[in-house]
Amino acid sequence: MIDINKNFELLDDDYLFSKIKKIKKSAENELKSSELIDMSIGDVKTALDDVVIKALHKAVDEMANIETFKGYSPEQGYEFLINAICEKYKEIGVDLHQSEVFVNDGAKSDLVNLLDIFSKNNVVGVFSISYPVYLDACRMKGLNIEFINCTEENNFLPLPSEFDGKNLDLIYICSPGNPTGMAYNKNQLTQWVNYALKNGAIIIYDAAYKDFITEEDKPYSIYEISGALKCAIEVNSFSKSAGFTGLRCGYTIVPNSIEVFTKNNKIKVSKLWNRRRATGFNGTSYIVQRGAEEFLKSGSRRCVSHCLKNSERLRAYLNKYNYEYWGGINSPYIWLKCQREMNSTQYFEYLIKEKHVVTTPGVGFGLNADRYIRISCFF
Ligand code: MLT
Repeated sequence: MIDINKNFELLDDDYLFSKIKKIKKSAENELKSSELIDMSIGDVKTALDDVVIKALHKAVDEMANIETFKGYSPEQGYEFLINAICEKYKEIGVDLHQSEVFVNDGAKSDLVNLLDIFSKNNVVGVFSISYPVYLDACRMKGLNIEFINCTEENNFLPLPSEFDGKNLDLIYICSPGNPTGMAYNKNQLTQWVNYALKNGAIIIYDAAYKDFITEEDKPYSIYEISGALKCAIEVNSFSKSAGFTGLRCGYTIVPNSIEVFTKNNKIKVSKLWNRRRATGFNGTSYIVQRGAEEFLKSGSRRCVSHCLKNSERLRAYLNKYNYEYWGGINSPYIWLKCQREMNSTQYFEYLIKEKHVVTTPGVGFGLNADRYIRISCFF
């Protein structure tokens, strides 16, 4: 008789943002209002750039002509997009080889699927306040989880020195962080890279929000840190910076210099990842990859600037009334301390009822998060 993967019993019934959507819908019915301001999920509210639209139209036309029609995408993605990505990294002094770039359908799938290439015996470090996908993915796949305390005391930027003695094999790091909006500086990120190098660990670095960085000392990529090409996989997305939440495109960098030991030999992690993808993924559509290429070439910051302006306005208000918050400077997210002794669920409900604003209660992001809510500036 068929049985389920028992690990699913460890998950909440709904993914965090599915739950918030349902709550929003029922609040709209109850309040008889479709006027709720949605500051919950980080979904873009700006239309695509003109250059992207043009590229998409052109690619659609190519599909209508047998001379230019495209079937399956090359395994790792089209060369034109991979080259455009490598060019972007060159601008920050990082030289990538084409074979290290894997075009995907957005960061989320890879953040989950990357775990497939590592043994279940590994210990995965997950920040106690983090994007819920990391924890859900580890639980689904039955990996050992070690929580890394992410708290107000460490400014929501935990460092490896805080948990000396524990050996992590894989570590999820998101900077600028979701949900706290806090970003590591070069010095802090160097400490994580050194930890990984010393312990033979691999960092899965979620850089989905890197385009929101405004402060000079914050690295745009983990590969700006010496040694990171030997221990870090970087996962990127066009969702938030190019407005591709509906189109779906991103890319993951798996450096060829990351090698792991098997019984008899050394193996490149990029080779394993290519093998995993070839089996479970048939690529992002040609049309969307053309749109992503044009976005990169244009250097547009329209979507990012819109969101950062919202953040600035909101932070001016929060400062005026002495709210305690973090993030928003290098990030589309503001991490706000709950008011009036409420926990995050109570404060979330209060904001819906009294202010008609939907946020995300901190409790959805982990253990130390029930005194905060996340505000998304994509509105
Ligand atoms: C977020 O709002 O944190 C994410 O973009 C939503 C998601 O990935 O489900």
